[in-house]
Amino acid sequence: MRLACTDEGPGPAVVLLHGFPLSRAMWEPQVSGVGSIYRIIAPDLRGHGDSPAPEGVYTMDEMADDVLELLRTLHLDGPVVLGGLSMGGYVALSMVARYPDRIRALMLMDTRAGADTPDAAKKREEMAQAVIAAGNSGPVVEAMMPRLFAAQTLKDHPERVEPLRTVMEQNTARGIAGALRGMAVRPDRRGELAAIRVPTLVLVGEEDVLTPPSEAQALADAIAGARLEVVPEAGHLAPYENFAVANAVILRFLEGLDR
Ligand code: MLT
Repeated sequence: MRLACTDEGPGPAVVLLHGFPLSRAMWEPQVSGVGSIYRIIAPDLRGHGDSPAPEGVYTMDEMADDVLELLRTLHLDGPVVLGGLSMGGYVALSMVARYPDRIRALMLMDTRAGADTPDAAKKREEMAQAVIAAGNSGPVVEAMMPRLFAAQTLKDHPERVEPLRTVMEQNTARGIAGALRGMAVRPDRRGELAAIRVPTLVLVGEEDVLTPPSEAQALADAIAGARLEVVPEAGHLAPYENFAVANAVILRFLEGLDR
């Protein structure tokens, strides 16, 4: 599948995979703040943004293979820095497990390596059906909006919150359902973390209620040499909500790779 993609900036390639139910628009602060030094490649994963939204269950492996195909199309045949937020992190973990030689370094943001509990998987299926019945992303937007952002971001920064609401509203019911069903069947990758051999940054918003700092700590503890950075005044979308701190952390990590 040919993914829509932002490809901006000079220098070594940094691939950024967005969360659910968003699009590459969430990386705008990184394109502005990191893209002057690094080449930011941010695709819309299948079912999101401007990429196609076919019928079916979008497994994390399938999404990862879409990204690999994109890299081939861009003639990026060597290892890249790969970052993913939440669902994008699930996809990044699929890539590093299956194509370790394509990854130079990892940035796992507001994400986890575990699978869904049976209850969580059931709730995803109920949500997929609600979205299909509504014919639009409305039910998932209403359910997720209050949980994606820190309370302070919701209150004080409508200019940050509202553009992402629009992004979520523009995603189709079919794309949302495909991603929900794919996340529900994703494997537990915790046992694979010890095999990760590349420099890894684990970043989390201090007020992330969906993948809280305790999850991020567990992730960092399981990956040799991984560094945990907790971003203050941010929820589940830390690199978007508090981009000043997150970009400084990301730049420090990227600069460290060349030393
Ligand atoms: C995301 O931000 O990608 C989602 O919260 C992931 C999930 O629902 O597990």
